[in-house]
Amino acid sequence: MIDATTKEEVLIEALPYIQTYEGKTFVIKYGGAAMTDEHLKQMFAKDVTILRKIGINIVIVHGGGKETTEIAGKLGLETRFIHGHRFTDGEMMKVILMVLAGKINKEITNLINTNGGNAVGLCGVDNNLLRAKKLMNDAADLGLVGEVTSVNTAFINLLLKEGTMPVISPIGVGPDGELYNINADLAAGSIASALKAEKLVYLSDIEGILVNRRRVSSLTHTEAQEYIQNGAIFGGMIPKVQSAFDTLSAGVNKVHIIDGRVKHSLLLEIFTDEGIGTQMVHEEAKQKTLPSNGVPK
Ligand SMILES: Nc1ncnc2c1ncn2[C@@H]1O[C@H](COP(=O)(O)OP(=O)(O)OP(=O)(O)O)[C@@H](O)[C@H]1O
Ligand SMILES: [Mg+2]
Repeated sequence: MIDATTKEEVLIEALPYIQTYEGKTFVIKYGGAAMTDEHLKQMFAKDVTILRKIGINIVIVHGGGKETTEIAGKLGLETRFIHGHRFTDGEMMKVILMVLAGKINKEITNLINTNGGNAVGLCGVDNNLLRAKKLMNDAADLGLVGEVTSVNTAFINLLLKEGTMPVISPIGVGPDGELYNINADLAAGSIASALKAEKLVYLSDIEGILVNRRRVSSLTHTEAQEYIQNGAIFGGMIPKVQSAFDTLSAGVNKVHIIDGRVKHSLLLEIFTDEGIGTQMVHEEAKQKTLPSNGVPK
């Protein structure tokens, strides 16, 4: 247990952040270990509930890649990733719909609600939340992998105004009602951009972006492209980084990748002065003098 003075200091340090963020919108991409470990799941549900209760609008976009792969395997479907995207044919799309928009979405929603968070579980089909089209990839045909063309922000804002917390599965719907599997990182980025959110946080299963096994506290677009080129950034980190910079360019103020394996990493990132994880920054921001910990808040 922490002593009373430390508790007091923590609360006092949080106060300016609480005041700054009240009424603002944060989009949280929920994935990785924080989504699979029982204890971390509970922590996450509590953290987002606290954030909502102090007046921050929270929108959650979840992944669920590992469980989808497992269940697809049990059903005899093999999973293939191309540049961090899951190749999706019609059969895989059915599994994604069942697992992501069904089991996983309802589990997250239920857990948050058990903690008092007023979550509403949705996928892109509901009230045309995410309209989508096929994602074109130069290297390969990804099948029914899509990208977001529009977000029903009026509906999300209505839910937020009612004090609820949308929990969104990244499944989009095309002009003829066809379903698309959208990478959760890209969906989170599109939703944050459309909502003009204050912050986008990717909760993952790693300390942040690692280069030569060391965490990079801030990253520019030029550096990211270089690391993708030389292979330092690969697999599931590629769509995360690409959507992070698209979101930053769209005007979202802060985009972070943080470690979902660390207890309450979300609260630490938002309410304390120590930066954690990796923050994506504009080129100019990196040239400015950084605080002693090297992380611009
Ligand atoms: N430079 C890098 N630094 C850190 N992790 C990297 C890097 N390059 C690739 N990765 C990989 O990216 C992974 C995170 O992406 P991944 O898609 O697996 O998880 P997620 O997006 O958090 O979860 P989900 O896809 O289930 O929503 C890390 O576990 C790591 O293996
Ligand atoms: Mg991923």
